[in-house]
Amino acid sequence: MNTAKRLEGIGEYYFSTKLREIEELNRAGKNIISLGIGSPDQAPHPEVIRILQEESSKANTHAYQSYKGSPVLRKAMAAWYKQYYKVDLDPEKEILPLAGSKEGIMHICMTYVNPGDLVLIPNPGYPTYQSAAKLAGAVLGSYELKEENNWLPDFDAIKGLLDRRQASQEEVLMFVNYPQMPTGQLPTKKLFADLIQFARDNRILLVHDNPYSFILNDEPMSILQEEGATDQVIELNSLSKSHNMAGWRVGMMMASAKHIENVLRFKSNMDSGMFLPVQLAAARALALPPSWYQEVNDLYRRRKLAVEVLLDGLGCHYSKSQAGLFVWARVPQDVADGYALSDLLLYQAQVFVTPGGIFGSAGNPYIRISLCAPEEKIRECLSRIHKAGLIKVKQHV
Ligand SMILES: Cc1ncc(COP(=O)(O)O)c(C=O)c1O
Repeated sequence: MNTAKRLEGIGEYYFSTKLREIEELNRAGKNIISLGIGSPDQAPHPEVIRILQEESSKANTHAYQSYKGSPVLRKAMAAWYKQYYKVDLDPEKEILPLAGSKEGIMHICMTYVNPGDLVLIPNPGYPTYQSAAKLAGAVLGSYELKEENNWLPDFDAIKGLLDRRQASQEEVLMFVNYPQMPTGQLPTKKLFADLIQFARDNRILLVHDNPYSFILNDEPMSILQEEGATDQVIELNSLSKSHNMAGWRVGMMMASAKHIENVLRFKSNMDSGMFLPVQLAAARALALPPSWYQEVNDLYRRRKLAVEVLLDGLGCHYSKSQAGLFVWARVPQDVADGYALSDLLLYQAQVFVTPGGIFGSAGNPYIRISLCAPEEKIRECLSRIHKAGLIKVKQHV
């Protein structure tokens, strides 16, 4: 049977195919070190694991769960937003727990996008914005983020893209994400205020994807801190990175009651509430004190220094003020692009780093290195790269 037309132009997710290639190389004895994917390698807090164990050993926690999520989890999400972002949310009406924010991106597209509708996506940006919008039948308006503009949106250029809006289209979805993945660019209060004004002036519904605000960033920000933001914004957040719970699949959507109701109409037909012990353990994770985030970040800070030594050795250029789980770096001038450098490192030094081009054409001259590997592994990568003769800047290894 042929696949549906909506899958035309949608390939398998890059990492899904690349990890298979790496597995094959490993089977051939290559022992590749991957600095590719942003999946935290540390465990959640022991209290979180304890709650999961305790709750899952009870007889009454195994039934189907509410589509809206457990009230305990929704209240914990509201308290987390209040404590760390200073945002007030009604846990009954303005929060929807999700099985990860990736799921939320798809639900939002399926809820609001008609075939032929324009959807604005950042280039470079998280590839799921593009694939979810395409699966919903959207026409993509890729807006370029440039290093010389600190990876901030160029509103004049985006206005040009808005001409592609269908006559029947009421509002245009626009995905934004700060701290930005893959560039690590932090948001500013002005950026959030400008985005909301731009959205208001141009009939845009912003989807702000905010999974990295606690990583290598001392001041987590939410676009919902802006006055009247919920008229114009849906925010997504996640425990994947901030609480080392990527495999648990716990995310959340914050929006006006109307948007939550609309998305729930789609979501409740797609899946059911998450396993209750996971929800209760996630609620515990959200109540962790600030010292949790400090410990998580101490580790990433040390790893980041090791990655910077590696990048210096390769002759790459990068900003030291990046937030999030990665370091984004421009390849040296004598290397064609990020794909070429990634292949060189994979096949000559058995080290995998992500080519920036997978995040959009504007990412071509870059690579992205993940901080989700132990410091010793990062040092081992440096030594392999040195042995392969790929170090440009003389240094002590
Ligand atoms: C920008 C961005 N948004 C969303 C996600 C997905 O996160 P989750 O695990 O919550 O689905 C990722 C994961 O890599 C990401 O980089």
